[in-house]
Amino acid sequence: MKKGVVYTPDHWADWVVDRFRIAEKWINGAVVLDPGCGTGALMAAVVRRALTAGAEPDINDLQRLIGMDVDKGSLDILDENFRQRYHLKLPRTSLIHGDFVLENPDIQADIVLANPPWVSFGDLDSKLKEAYKPVYRNSGLVPNPRTLLLGGARIDLAALFVALSMERHLKQRGEGLFFLPSSLFRGEGAHEALRNIELPGGRRHRLQEVYDMEKSAPFPGAGTRKCLAYFRMDARQVWPISWYTAGPGDTWETREARPIAESGSPLIPYSVGTQPPVPPRISVPAGTKPRQGVNTGGASAVFILEEMEPLEDGVVGVVNRNGTEGRLPEFLVHPLMNPSSFESGDKPVPERWIFLPYKRNGRVMSAEELKSYPDAADWLTRHRTQLEARKGVMLARYASGGIWWALLGVGPYAFQPWKLAWESYGRSRFVPMLFGPSKYGIWQGNQALHAYLSFKEDGTARSVLEDFRSPVLEKYLKSLGGAETKGWAQPGRIQRVLIPDASIPAHQKR
Ligand SMILES: C[S@@+](CC[C@H](N)C(=O)[O-])C[C@H]1O[C@@H](n2cnc3c(N)ncnc32)[C@H](O)[C@@H]1O
Repeated sequence: MKKGVVYTPDHWADWVVDRFRIAEKWINGAVVLDPGCGTGALMAAVVRRALTAGAEPDINDLQRLIGMDVDKGSLDILDENFRQRYHLKLPRTSLIHGDFVLENPDIQADIVLANPPWVSFGDLDSKLKEAYKPVYRNSGLVPNPRTLLLGGARIDLAALFVALSMERHLKQRGEGLFFLPSSLFRGEGAHEALRNIELPGGRRHRLQEVYDMEKSAPFPGAGTRKCLAYFRMDARQVWPISWYTAGPGDTWETREARPIAESGSPLIPYSVGTQPPVPPRISVPAGTKPRQGVNTGGASAVFILEEMEPLEDGVVGVVNRNGTEGRLPEFLVHPLMNPSSFESGDKPVPERWIFLPYKRNGRVMSAEELKSYPDAADWLTRHRTQLEARKGVMLARYASGGIWWALLGVGPYAFQPWKLAWESYGRSRFVPMLFGPSKYGIWQGNQALHAYLSFKEDGTARSVLEDFRSPVLEKYLKSLGGAETKGWAQPGRIQRVLIPDASIPAHQKR
């Protein structure tokens, strides 16, 4: 199966059709559209339920059940299944072969029922990216065109399917039902777009209900938690919405949800009749920003070192995970945070290391500057092919300037003496730790696993650490539902609790 393609299990297809009485509405004249219909799990459920209810769909009904997919093979399977399992021949007009984003089929539907492909804009191949760009831009999902390159690259194709379905294909008061990753509603960052779509032409839509399947592992192989989102066209958004969480044996717990802060911020579910959780407030010096650890762009074997041993003055011997040995200037090798760094009290001892060919001001060394560090230049040259094969907009920008050894997430902040860091990925406990200057060098976080704030002065760092250790912050993070997910305590979530306070000088907190 291709990327982003996980078919809807029959169980959930039948469930959505029942819950929203789609078969009944269809038999009574509604037009149902499934963009990205694949092999037709959802369309088949509509027919199956209609047949079970005793309906005898005829050609007029079948003309009102329409699927579209880029993959001709899937449409052929769909066609064949309908014949074999339901003895029904779908009319040609019901199976559209084409790209839903680019081709804008001329269909007005009462109901859009879809499980759109889940793949981020940044991961599309470059030809599709170019072709989709203008559509993304006009979809109301990308308020600022620059964000398409930066954070917006994470905007999902699924979100575009939702926006286009609503804008182009839903009739007045139409209903939109979409299986989506729940992170689109609950995560910080790119998906603000989906939560805050302003449809071109000013048409309104309302997110009315979300069915969160988090605990029921509904889509084998999806690698993500799914939900079903129910939208209504031409209605004003009202908060809170109903938020249902799957419990054991097809039961649903009814809760409410609303944006945690400003419009477009992540939705937070809470028990009916209670107040939604509010983010705690922690004052920090203006300009303090949470960041992820260093990102090697997929070349961790080049930069991350399993062993390090001081040799002569200022030079260390190193070994990477492939067993490659080398020598590096001690000054460019730093301790790397590990799970054990967060269990070891005040004096963590490094288990691994990271080589950063960077100056202390956070700038990557030029070829000229590297000449003063022949060991570093030699190590990089030995790994040149691997380094040049890395992908990504930012790395490509460096490479076009002749610098193929850059990393991401390194700036002046990476070399500040004090880091207040925490494990940001896949945890359910929030354990902030202070990493100060050490004989080993300057502690660095490892990609998305760690996030940190950096400080020049330990007084400020310690005072913020105290606030971070308050159980209120951990409780708040848990209420966001990200425990044990990759979003657990990522920078965006922590950013929301920080109050920049210009009156706190960077070197001293009140
Ligand atoms: C997640 S699968 C879901 C299939 C089906 N609706 C189901 O629920 O089982 C998404 C489908 O979208 C199709 N798809 C991806 N990009 C598309 C595009 N631009 N236009 C139309 N279909 C597309 C894929 O081929 C795939 O069949």
